[in-house]
Amino acid sequence: MTDSGTPPQGMRGGLVNYGDEEFALFLRTAFIKGAGYTDDALDRPVIGIVNTGSGFNPCHGNMPQLVEAVKRGVMLSGGLPVEFPTISLHESFSHPTSMFLRNLMAMDTEEMIRALPVDAVVLIGGCDKTVPAQLMGAASANKPAIQLVTGSMLTGSHRGRTVGACTDCRAFWGRYRAQEIDEAEIREVNGRLVGSVGTCSVAGTASTMATVAEAAGIALPGSATPPAVTADRTRIAELTGRRAVGLAQEGLTIDRILTPEALENALRVLLAVGGSTNALVHLAAVAGRLGYRLDLDTFDRMSRETPVLVNLKPAGEHYMEDLHRAGGVPRLLHELRDLLHLDAPTVTGRTLGEELAEAPEPFPQDVIRPLDRPIYPSGGLAVLRGNLAPDGAVIKQAAASPRLLEHYGRAVVFEDAADLAARIDDEDLDVHPDDVLVLRNIGPVGAPGMPEAGYIPIPRKLARQGVRDMVRVSDGRMSGTAAGTIVLHVAPEAAVGGTLGLVRTGDPIRLSVADRLLQLDIPEEELAERARTAPAPARPKPGRGYGRLFTEQVNQAPEGCDFAFLRAEEERGAVPRPH
Ligand code: FES
Ligand code: MG
Repeated sequence: MTDSGTPPQGMRGGLVNYGDEEFALFLRTAFIKGAGYTDDALDRPVIGIVNTGSGFNPCHGNMPQLVEAVKRGVMLSGGLPVEFPTISLHESFSHPTSMFLRNLMAMDTEEMIRALPVDAVVLIGGCDKTVPAQLMGAASANKPAIQLVTGSMLTGSHRGRTVGACTDCRAFWGRYRAQEIDEAEIREVNGRLVGSVGTCSVAGTASTMATVAEAAGIALPGSATPPAVTADRTRIAELTGRRAVGLAQEGLTIDRILTPEALENALRVLLAVGGSTNALVHLAAVAGRLGYRLDLDTFDRMSRETPVLVNLKPAGEHYMEDLHRAGGVPRLLHELRDLLHLDAPTVTGRTLGEELAEAPEPFPQDVIRPLDRPIYPSGGLAVLRGNLAPDGAVIKQAAASPRLLEHYGRAVVFEDAADLAARIDDEDLDVHPDDVLVLRNIGPVGAPGMPEAGYIPIPRKLARQGVRDMVRVSDGRMSGTAAGTIVLHVAPEAAVGGTLGLVRTGDPIRLSVADRLLQLDIPEEELAERARTAPAPARPKPGRGYGRLFTEQVNQAPEGCDFAFLRAEEERGAVPRPH
């Protein structure tokens, strides 16, 4: 009891109430006091810190330092920090695929935020699926929230050349497959690619989501790019903790930050970074939690007017640490300001424009280009339509081969990931450099979980001849660190009856990025006949557990691969707003 004889009020949120509210609070206070808290400590704004550290997640390997720094910030501002765990997901330790588990992490995050007496929450994530899962969950729980990312890993060095995960992982593996480098060298480079704890050092999904979260105003200005192991990163963590207390006091809930304008700024920055295709799926899911539907056609129009300004791998040449030294996201937003909603709110309580006015003075550098001297003239991502993808497909045109962006070729079809693995390196496979490699049944339902198998390897016999890129089409995803002329997220997917399931080896396929077209070039009657006589699609039906929930509930890529029942109940229109 405090001096007034009442239990501390800071722990009042989300009481489990069996009819006597004061007794429930009395009980709760008794338990937490078992951890040694004083009434004074408990009578403050309670700031939950979502700790996603895990021995299986090196991308979050600096979690202990970040949690400590966030706590320091919270206490400096007079709040009570309390950390709690949720599921953690690392791309390489999430069998069968991290996308399968993202919604589970989002549910965990949502329900724990709801369940615990937190007045605000600091979401610490980093690896690809974690920030989306946290934003999805926090958006649905709708308490005051602020995102903190773990930060990028350091680059490494291999025989005098800078390397980083995981664009260089793929480049070296491709050279190994082509027998350009030997076993000893591939083993040597394996220990060089990941220079420290932290997230991938290129414009993969983690970097993209960090950048996009800052642009959306849900993370502090300047917080996206400091590498994981730097003093800058730790200071950002402390500042994030400080600000979380303000958010709690002001009751600034997440729906007041992630407005349609803020989400549009995020999409704009996704394009300007030449960021990961995955981020589009994740932003669709986050928007869906807030009641907004992602309008792919308006997004594509935005893409045509948004140049790629950031020179980062895989589309460019630099790494995240270079982006940080060049001024990070504030500098990028400064260059992009004419295309942004400057009146969008941010977690600081001020608008994006107000924050930008206080950003450091621009200085000469070559990682972030001005609007009139872009890396790539229009947006990194393009949305394709056509009979092969009536609900849309996506290509990262900035990371594609310019000569393949307009292409007409013969389909070579793989039924699923196992079929691909069995045949892609077969010396007798009938495949030519101008063919279009088609892989199906790797969509949200089909795999299930939409694995990053869309980065179909070049058949070994062609790789040996020096073929580095071919047009590839699938209903799956690809890693944001990968490059090539790769059409992804074909919707609807084959497993729910999409046209992709009707393609036969030998069929001509037309890809025209200029016309935003992905077309199976066979007569309409023939296509209709195939649809009529096709066997039922190979839709997996797990009998129990999370897998069953997933395949029954997951929606298609344009809706974010979220579970249908997790979307907001109220529809609030489209983002980007039609213009
Ligand atoms: Fe974690 Fe790339 S594997 S960010
Ligand atoms: Mg990735």
